[in-house]
Amino acid sequence: MNQSFFIKTYGCQMNDYDSNKMEDLLTFNGFSKVSNVEKSDVAILNTCHIRKKASEKLYSDLGRLSVFKENKNKLGKKMHIIVTGCVAQAEGNEIIRRNKSVDYVIGPQNFHIIPKLLKKKKTNQIFTEFLCEEKFKSLPSSNIKNVSRLVTIQEGCDKFCTFCVVPYTRGAEYSRQVEDIYAEVLNYIKNGTSEITLLGQNVSSYKSIIIEKSKKKEVNLSGLMNILSKIPGLKRIRYLTSHPSDISDDLISEHKNNKSVMPFLHLPVQSGSSKILKLMNRKHTKEEYLSIISKIKKNVPKMAFSSDFIVGYPGESNNDFEETLDLIEKVDFASSYSFKYSPRPGTPASTKKNYINDQISNLRLKKIQELLNKQQKTFNTSFIDKNIDVLISGRGKKENQYVGRTPYLQPVHIVSSRNLIGKILKIKIESLTSFSFHGKIIA
Ligand code: SAH
Ligand code: SF4
Ligand code: F3S
Repeated sequence: MNQSFFIKTYGCQMNDYDSNKMEDLLTFNGFSKVSNVEKSDVAILNTCHIRKKASEKLYSDLGRLSVFKENKNKLGKKMHIIVTGCVAQAEGNEIIRRNKSVDYVIGPQNFHIIPKLLKKKKTNQIFTEFLCEEKFKSLPSSNIKNVSRLVTIQEGCDKFCTFCVVPYTRGAEYSRQVEDIYAEVLNYIKNGTSEITLLGQNVSSYKSIIIEKSKKKEVNLSGLMNILSKIPGLKRIRYLTSHPSDISDDLISEHKNNKSVMPFLHLPVQSGSSKILKLMNRKHTKEEYLSIISKIKKNVPKMAFSSDFIVGYPGESNNDFEETLDLIEKVDFASSYSFKYSPRPGTPASTKKNYINDQISNLRLKKIQELLNKQQKTFNTSFIDKNIDVLISGRGKKENQYVGRTPYLQPVHIVSSRNLIGKILKIKIESLTSFSFHGKIIA
C-alpha cells in the first residue's frame, strides 16, 4: 500500500509554497496525502521562527506527535517525523535534543531531499545547507488544482532588519531564473489557475537576466510581471512582500499600465518613527515612506495599501508610538497586521536592554489595532452598493454558495446554481459581515 504523508504549515506564504512543493514531491514519488496526522506514515511540521509564540508551537505539537509515534511503534508500525522550515534552520540539533522522536530536521532550502531520505535507514539527521538552486531544479511539476497559486520567485533576504530572523533562516537573497518561473506558471495555468502571487521576503529587489536578441537583459520585478502577464489564461498577478526602499518607478508604471497587476500593495513600514526605523535598520525614514505612498497614490489612484507594524521595539517612546499612529492616519490602510516585538535569538535587537514593559506594549498593540480595524472597516464599507470584479476561487460553506476575492483581497460570497470557479464576475456588493462581503452577480 502507498505510504501516506501529512503536512502542517506554520508561518508565512513562503512556507505555504514550500508545503505545496513538498506535496508535489511526495505525490510524484508515490506517497498519498492525508489530512489526519494519526493516519500518516510521514508527518511533516513546516515551521516558522519569526516570533517566539510561532516557534514554540512546534514543541507542543511535537509532544503530541511523539506519543502517536510511540503507539504506532508498539503496534509494529513505523512513522517518520520531519521538522522543516525556519525553526529547523535556526535550531537544528536542539530540536532532536529536545525530542528524540524527530527523524529529520530539514531547513527551507533542503526539502527536495525528503523522498531520498525516506528510502534510507539512517535517522536523527540534520540538513541545513543553503541549496536554493539545487532545490528549485529538483521540484517536479504540480498536479494541485487551485484558482490562485503562490510562486516563490526569490529566496532569502539581505536587508538584515535588526529584529528579524529571516536572513538567518532563509539565507542570502537568491532570485530564480525567469524561464523557470515562466514554466512553473504555465504548469499552474494548465491545472486551472488564473491568479498567481509572486513571493519573496524582499520581492521588490528581484533581479534576473534573460537573453533577448542575443543580448543579456536585466529583468526586475516589473519586467517579470510584464513577461508573465502575456501568458494566456493568467488573469491576475500579485506580489508579496515589498520593501519601501526598493519601490522603483518601473514598478509604479507596471501598476499603472498592466491590467493584470492588482492595485494592492503590501508595503510593511513596521514603525512611523524615523528614530525607531533607523534603530531597526529599515533604510528609510517616515517621510520617505509617506512620499513613496503619495507618489503611488498620484500615479495609480485606485491603489490600496496594507502594512505590518511592530509595537514595543526596544527604546520605543510614547512619542515614537504617536508617530506610528500619525503615519497610519496619513496613509489610510486597507488592512494590516500588527505584532508585539518579540526578541529573537541571534538578532542584533535581542541584545538590547531597553525592553518596553509588557503592559505598555499590550496597550499600544490594542490602540494600533483599533485604528487599523477602523480604517479597514471604512475601506470595506466604501464598496457597499458598488460593482466590483471578483475572481471566484471556491465553494462556500452553504449550498450553491461560492467564494471569491476582489482586487483588494476582500472575500465575497455569492449564490449561484452554475459552477463559477475560475471566473471573474462583476458583483454588486450588498452587505458586509465582519470582514467578508455578500453580493449578487451583475455580469
Ligand atoms: N520581509 C517582510 C516581512 C517579514 S516577516 C518585510 O520586510 O517587512 C513578517 C512580519 O513579521 C514583519 O513585517 C514584522 O512586522 C513581523 N516581525 C518580524 N520579526 C519580528 C519580531 N522579532 N517581533 C515581532 N514581529 C516581527
Ligand atoms: Fe526580515 Fe527585514 Fe528581510 Fe523583511 S526585509 S525579511 S523584515 S530582514
Ligand atoms: Fe516564518 Fe520563515 Fe516565513 S520565519 S514568516 S516561515 S520566512
